[in-house]
Amino acid sequence: MLDVAVLISGRGSNLQALIDACADEEFPARIVRVISNNAKAYGLKRAKEAGIATSVISHKDYESKEAFEEALDKELNACKAKMICLAGFMRILEPRFVNRWKDRILNIHPSLLPSFKGLHTHERALEAGVRFTGCTVHIVRPEMDDGPIILQAAVAVNPDETADELAARILEYEHIIYPEALRLMASGRARVAGDKVMIESATYPDGGWINPLPGDDIEV
Ligand code: GRF
Repeated sequence: MLDVAVLISGRGSNLQALIDACADEEFPARIVRVISNNAKAYGLKRAKEAGIATSVISHKDYESKEAFEEALDKELNACKAKMICLAGFMRILEPRFVNRWKDRILNIHPSLLPSFKGLHTHERALEAGVRFTGCTVHIVRPEMDDGPIILQAAVAVNPDETADELAARILEYEHIIYPEALRLMASGRARVAGDKVMIESATYPDGGWINPLPGDDIEV
């Protein structure tokens, strides 16, 4: 059983997906602590409802990033977390912290990385006119939204939809792939090998999609 801490800043719907997955006693990980840098994060309520210990460590209470991350590190060690899941955690972690937890920090990002790193991914995807976007769970490396990819889910973009509508469709897949990626890591089926993640006995779907479909009669 892998002991995991989840770091959040807000709504916590991905945290909820992880809580729900961990409720299955066969799941190879459990959440030992939820840490938020924002005392008002709704995710803290979700954790309490699930009976999970919570801590608030606000970056505003520390005079430097380093001091904030030292406090985070101390808390993570105190609860004996062996892995960290970032789930809408809105602080960029410094290389020192990331390297200390090398290969033990996961993140979910709402785009098909390496495209659209950073914020406002859905607006930017619509603006760029891409036909596919999606979400990615990856191992965190010092560069922002960078690191070996564990799982991705792709969604076909409809240029007539709003960024919120697109976000909502992608979020459904986030809630599927984050628990699955954690399961793969916790069970040891996924291993980091350099800049990639190797997954034991996975199935790779063949075929693909065309978006948009120029006509009804298109054959692939
Ligand atoms: C998600 O879209 C996630 O991909 C991104 O921040 C959002 C967090 O949402 N990193 P929630 O707090 O998990 O509901």
